Amino acid sequence: MTNHPNTSPSNATAVAHPNIAFIKYWGNYDDRLRIPVNGSISMNLASLETETSVRFDPALSADRIEINGASATPDAARRVSDHLDIIRQMAGIQTHAEITSRNNFPMGSGIASSASAFAALSLAASTAADLALNLKDLSRLARRGSGSACRSIPGGIAEWHAGTQDNDSYADQFVDEGYWDLVDCLAITSESHKPVGSSEGHLLAITSPLQRLRVTDAPRRIDCCRQAILSRDFEAFSVVVEQDSNLMHSVMSTSQPNLTYWNEITFDVLTATVELRRKGIEACYTLDAGPNVHVITLKSQIRTVERYLKRIIGVLRIVVAPIGTGARLVG
Ligand code: DP6
Repeated sequence: MTNHPNTSPSNATAVAHPNIAFIKYWGNYDDRLRIPVNGSISMNLASLETETSVRFDPALSADRIEINGASATPDAARRVSDHLDIIRQMAGIQTHAEITSRNNFPMGSGIASSASAFAALSLAASTAADLALNLKDLSRLARRGSGSACRSIPGGIAEWHAGTQDNDSYADQFVDEGYWDLVDCLAITSESHKPVGSSEGHLLAITSPLQRLRVTDAPRRIDCCRQAILSRDFEAFSVVVEQDSNLMHSVMSTSQPNLTYWNEITFDVLTATVELRRKGIEACYTLDAGPNVHVITLKSQIRTVERYLKRIIGVLRIVVAPIGTGARLVG
């Protein structure tokens, strides 16, 4: 082990977008390596991003981590340093780093920041450590920090191939960001932090008798989702996306202890989305581990969907995000 070689770049800055899954990741086959029990499909959210700078500095005696202008909490700092340890081991260095990370969306807004955070950190830190990873290896690395982060490495709509071990569990691009005009209209119904984080939730999935059924049927849903996207068939897309989200939330609510992420307003938004579709508007819902509702629609329908959702009492605001690009270096 050596300190970082003087001849190599020791700092880099990267940007990555969070993503919303159409087919969800819930439950791991290997929790330490984050090998999921089923594959998943998601789109990156263009208007939201995390920018992370990493500087390896031999003068530091510990990692120094700042998130959104403040020192990271001990839990967040440990998770970032653990991820840096993987990168240091790959690069054969021991140097500590200074990390500065900033989201352009508020934490606690119900938008999962771990995906964009670990995608940006993986790209910036591996570059600063002079690793020059290809997209597959970068996705594998991001997965170790947060499973869903592996899908924020490629641009557009990504598919995470579950695999069975570290080598074959990664995401790649299914179609690029220009393939279909999908847009996420995220209805914020609560700004408070979720009571049980995803990492803890994944551990409970196995305690639900419905998880086995959800996992066994996953290849069929992935196939339906792939076909619907390829043929830009919104009706087929709606059926499988809503079914997949409902299945995950059924597993959550039948776990021991059970997890309920919805609030009453969540339910009103789901009902409104189904109403919109009955009126002939392309719209379908999907929810992550939180009470905010991602209403997926087409570019041509944004205004109608936004206006409709804004009228629901209790909806705090709508965040609009078209399909985003992959993680990229900006410095
Ligand atoms: C409900 O990727 O946040 O958003 O690997 O423990 O960091 P960790 O979990 P995370 O789980 C995401 C769960 C989800 C569904 C999804 O994005 O596929």
